[in-house]
Amino acid sequence: MQHHEQVRLLERARLLVGRGETDLDLPGGTIPVDRYIDAARLEQERERLFGRLPILVGFTSQLRAAGDWFTDDATGVPILCVRGDDGKVHAFLNVCRHRGSRLVTGTAGSARTFSCGFHGWTYDLAGALCKVPLPAAFPDLDRNACGLVELPTGERHGFVFVVPKARGAAMPDLDTFLGPLLAELGSFGLGDFTATRIATQTRRLNWKLHMDATQEVYHLPHLHATTAGAGYFQGCSLLTHTAPHARMVMPGASVLGLRDDDRAQWRLLTHAAVVYAMFPNTTLLLHDGFVQMLSVFPIDPDTSLVRTAMLVPPGPADAAEEHRRVCHHALYLSTMAEDLAACEQMQANMRTGANAVLRLGRAEGLVAAFDRTVDDLLEPDRRTH
Ligand code: FES
Ligand SMILES: [Fe+2]
Repeated sequence: MQHHEQVRLLERARLLVGRGETDLDLPGGTIPVDRYIDAARLEQERERLFGRLPILVGFTSQLRAAGDWFTDDATGVPILCVRGDDGKVHAFLNVCRHRGSRLVTGTAGSARTFSCGFHGWTYDLAGALCKVPLPAAFPDLDRNACGLVELPTGERHGFVFVVPKARGAAMPDLDTFLGPLLAELGSFGLGDFTATRIATQTRRLNWKLHMDATQEVYHLPHLHATTAGAGYFQGCSLLTHTAPHARMVMPGASVLGLRDDDRAQWRLLTHAAVVYAMFPNTTLLLHDGFVQMLSVFPIDPDTSLVRTAMLVPPGPADAAEEHRRVCHHALYLSTMAEDLAACEQMQANMRTGANAVLRLGRAEGLVAAFDRTVDDLLEPDRRTH
């Protein structure tokens, strides 16, 4: 983020915090409860969003050298990502072309070839079928037609994106898709960061409920009174929606100590945390010195897979910095546990029919904007129904 933008945000944060106000520039609204419990809608979301948009499935730090690989099933599509000898990341369906067994059964590693555990068909890093045991049994086999099915993939700033249901298609232009996030994430040097503490859990909530919860701070002093809420001003945030993504700046107490004659030294992350909601399903919480990431993937309308990770800058951390990371990550997980538990309660309540809509105020404008963005992207599907 350019320095003048950091200064602009800090000036506004200081003003709002000083007045005890928050950013109310975006409209609120209502969201029909059906959008969180309807099975047909969930299928549209899986197809149109999680199938056809670039989805963050992993990290450059998992694929440093040729042959490094990881697998990912979170989108519902079995994906194998590998760094090729050409230096590029390739994504394949993790499915053997013989009789369809799962090709790679682990989660991450390094290899020169991938050999199917069923009958031993073997593929190279480019996905080409390079070995068939007992070749005489397949006199007419067209090996060129039996390479692994490749999916569009790309890397930006340390993140690996795949379009899970666009086999054989070109990658949508990632730079265009990421829009203003591209330059901002780059300016924080995330491309050199390493993903650590990667963990997943399955929760009884609609994926959008958790995206909603991470895009407003109205709840911070209440739900997180004894966790993350203690470090920020009540409900104070600066909201920017650049469809389909969003940015939320959360000032800390130190903004009130910023001196005007010191502007050249102002750094946003010294005085605020910044949340980027990377559409459709990832939030990045940037602190000074590390990033907390959370992605949420739908399984069914009431169930989601939640993946968390901490991204840390290159180089060794001294004992004090490592202690800071450990404490922050524990605090983050405690805070997320509160969000997830609240979302599970809301999800269960939606099934009772108690409320027909969710009500959003102007401090929750990003939640309303997120709902509109999802709705707009589903529109072509819904018109055909
Ligand atoms: S299913 Fe993979 S080698 Fe037979
Ligand atoms: Fe929260």
